Amino acid sequence: MGFLVLEGLRAGYAGGKGDVLADVSLQVARGEVVGLIGPSGSGKSSLLRALVGLLPPRAGRVTLDGRPVDYGSRASLRAARDRFAIVFQQYNLFQNMTALRNVAIAPTLVKKRPAAEVEAEARALLAKVGLAGKVDAYPDELSGGQQQRVAIARALALRPDILLLDEVTSALDPELVTEVLDSIRALQRDGMTMLVVSHEMAFIREVATKVVFMDAGRVVESGPPAQVFDAPRSPRLRDFTARILRH
Ligand SMILES: Nc1ncnc2c1ncn2[C@@H]1O[C@H](COP(=O)(O)OP(=O)(O)O)[C@@H](O)[C@H]1O
Ligand SMILES: [Mg+2]
Repeated sequence: MGFLVLEGLRAGYAGGKGDVLADVSLQVARGEVVGLIGPSGSGKSSLLRALVGLLPPRAGRVTLDGRPVDYGSRASLRAARDRFAIVFQQYNLFQNMTALRNVAIAPTLVKKRPAAEVEAEARALLAKVGLAGKVDAYPDELSGGQQQRVAIARALALRPDILLLDEVTSALDPELVTEVLDSIRALQRDGMTMLVVSHEMAFIREVATKVVFMDAGRVVESGPPAQVFDAPRSPRLRDFTARILRH
């Protein structure tokens, strides 16, 4: 039994021309790092958005830790959102707040947790992503890579069961990518369950326990990194890896 189980998940945008997730089934074990790959428009972001309830599923089932996630009602949606945290390509930090405040604000204001406890945890999380010395810095005093690491710490401060990372290095200058990937490696060593969408194929190959290849809203193929990258079975995956590994 998987920690996160998706069964026949379908979803589409209101006013959109149909389902962007056609029939997604997927199992994720606790502590597993799933690398989501696939061509642009294949539904990777939509899948993560569906999990956090930003794109309401039209059919199918999501089960987390043995309990069904109900996206139907406001209350259960809020409960579902508590289980996942998502980090986007654009980190969108609050510009008028320090790194520490950016990480601490949601747990304090939204979750109403004790300020002192949240602050201690926020400091620990910033240290975890290599920013112990930057707790009092404002976003405009930080590099893109540092800001993205604050965004990752901010997501972790919500104590998610599963962390969803959507192309978190895509907006960064190449020399800043490594430090963000290092932070993700540290989370993997801690046993954080993650779904990672990335074009950094070498990184996916290294950290992912399982790679899922999506195309046209479906999971076309999945398996251990070596199998997916070195012995792709479907023509679409073969074509994708050939194109992506060429550059
Ligand atoms: N806000 C939106 N409204 C309507 N359609 C969208 C929206 N966002 C994405 N789509 C469509 O959903 C499909 C999947 O997109 P997306 O999940 O962003 O793919 P990926 O992340 O793999 O590039 C695409 O056809 C895209 O055009
Ligand atoms: Mg995307």
